[in-house]
Amino acid sequence: MSIPLSKPEIGEKEKELVNEVLDSGWLSTGPMTEKFEKNFADYMGAEHAIAVNSGTSGLHLLIRALGIEEGDEVITTPFSFISSSNCILFEKAKPVFVDIDSDTLCIDSEKIEDAITNQTKAILPVDVFGQPANMTEINSIAEKHGLNVIEDSCEAIGAEHKNQKVGTLADASVFAFYPNKQMTTGEGGMIVTDDEEIDRLCRSMRNQGRSQSDLWLEHVRLGYNYRFNEMAAAFGIAQLERIEEILSKRAEVAAEYNRLLEDLDEVKTLTIDQHTTKMSWFVYVIQVGEDIDRDEVMEYLRDNGVSCKPYFTPIHLQPFYKDEFGYQRGDFPITENVTDSVIALPFYNELTKEEIITVVETLKEAIHHQ
Ligand SMILES: Cc1ncc(COP(=O)(O)O)c(C=O)c1O
Repeated sequence: MSIPLSKPEIGEKEKELVNEVLDSGWLSTGPMTEKFEKNFADYMGAEHAIAVNSGTSGLHLLIRALGIEEGDEVITTPFSFISSSNCILFEKAKPVFVDIDSDTLCIDSEKIEDAITNQTKAILPVDVFGQPANMTEINSIAEKHGLNVIEDSCEAIGAEHKNQKVGTLADASVFAFYPNKQMTTGEGGMIVTDDEEIDRLCRSMRNQGRSQSDLWLEHVRLGYNYRFNEMAAAFGIAQLERIEEILSKRAEVAAEYNRLLEDLDEVKTLTIDQHTTKMSWFVYVIQVGEDIDRDEVMEYLRDNGVSCKPYFTPIHLQPFYKDEFGYQRGDFPITENVTDSVIALPFYNELTKEEIITVVETLKEAIHHQ
């Protein structure tokens, strides 16, 4: 029996609401989805929330809604899950990477201006592991240069930058609900914006480019089937109802890890920036020191029943990015340094104190075993 990396917490309310949908017979986007969207927008304090079938779909729709196209450039981070960069490629625009801050692991806002060219249309920061990027700085750079900001908040539901929730800081933001996320709908995503035009375009494009008039077979623009479904919406409503409870359980697990790892000099834990007034713990990562063989540590952990992952691997060094753009090691040294040393440990709402102790003890053995 090994301790898994993540585990969704499924309550009675989720089952009850999903059963309600099954009894209703209405399975694709309908009243449950509308309710989920309304609850989500209310939670965010935003005007619009548009449910889509994944975080990736949400990011793609925003790239299109902002008119980003072939030849345009979007400034983003190489230290992320691949879709925050792929969504730019979907429209044949170019992701321009900027290295990260070695503490927050989010894009280094101080390096963004150097990457701006006449082709730059937007900045796409990622709230890495549930910590907001430096949105104050990013927004002020965007304003100065007339750029849009799309915030990838897929990992950061409920997080706050200077007491303001992510989801209300950019032109539009995206959240994701894969089962390893703080809250899940199985698969799914949510676009959040105050902008009416972005809302209108995203609603149309998620549903095959149909017009708002809802003439079922009138397609006014190129669209996709990125629709959400009612079972997922029911699940999401129940999860969102207890999101604060979920976030505080996760904060407790993180605090326990931090406490137990405090004296382990070989390990660096995540730095929480002074502007992160609320952290939304997505995963728990550590970095091991340079003289420790990270892969050997992971092998030892796995062999001894502790799941772990080298999370993330750098986007610019993925084979097809190297082929297409000629990236090589050395291009983004801070990202590479972090990705060489990072380990994601088991992390979920109901991880027990005993399990956390087991993980930490096994980690100590793994390090001292070398
Ligand atoms: C930073 C980031 N961006 C985008 C996504 C994409 O979300 P999805 O898997 O729902 O497409 C994820 C989730 O895995 C993510 O962590």
